[in-house]
Amino acid sequence: MELSGAGVIPEVIVALDFADPESAFELVDRLPGDTWYKVGLELFTRAGPPLVRRLVGEGRQVFLDLKLHDIPNTVAGAARAAAAMGVRLLTLHASGGEAMLRAAAQAVGEENERSRSDTRLLGITVLTSLDDESLTAVMGAGAGVEESVGRLAGLARESGIDGVVSSVAECRAVKLACGSSFLVVTPGIRLAGDEAQDQKRVATPRVAQAAGADFLVVGRSITRSPDPAATLAGIRAALRPAYE
Ligand code: C5P
Repeated sequence: MELSGAGVIPEVIVALDFADPESAFELVDRLPGDTWYKVGLELFTRAGPPLVRRLVGEGRQVFLDLKLHDIPNTVAGAARAAAAMGVRLLTLHASGGEAMLRAAAQAVGEENERSRSDTRLLGITVLTSLDDESLTAVMGAGAGVEESVGRLAGLARESGIDGVVSSVAECRAVKLACGSSFLVVTPGIRLAGDEAQDQKRVATPRVAQAAGADFLVVGRSITRSPDPAATLAGIRAALRPAYE
């Protein structure tokens, strides 16, 4: 798939939020071969690069959600290592600053060329678990969540990062500010009739699509479905008619 970010049909990424690789592969084996998967901190900390290499080796598209945040040299090294494994998307904190973002972008660019990989970097702006009050407690008085998201998305774009992870509610504003080719990946997706569970702001796949999202991260709606393959197929089908 071309990562054009031009408002085409969004790709669905299934969040492999499992504590062990066996459960993860049980699900992977039930879904189509071209499915994208998000590997987050828990599964990566338990199963590590061998799990990622196995997924990539089986032809799956991997979003490695490690939310890197450290000095430029360290983040650049980790980003290079992720690109060398062939992951398609990798997250890092935009609040790590311009030098860190640029170092990661350069390292991934070099590794993409060296190993003919196609890894893109996504910035994390403000975690959705933070509200205005908790952000002020962390950063001191100043900007609230909304302004910080806009500023950090702009910094990421200017520093050579390919896109951001954002809620559906912020997606349109990010696209307007950073351009349509700046990728936006949106979690917090729920199907009609699903419980919101611990997510505060949720949206259906069609609403996320209308907001311009390039990728939709879907976890429990698929992983806890009695028929995950049918649920994924249903979401994909719902996203198609708007462009056909
Ligand atoms: O099960 P659910 O669809 O809520 O899973 C959403 C996935 O997206 C989880 O892996 C969660 O960690 C991730 N995520 C999120 N909200 C963010 C960033 C990531 O829900 N702001």
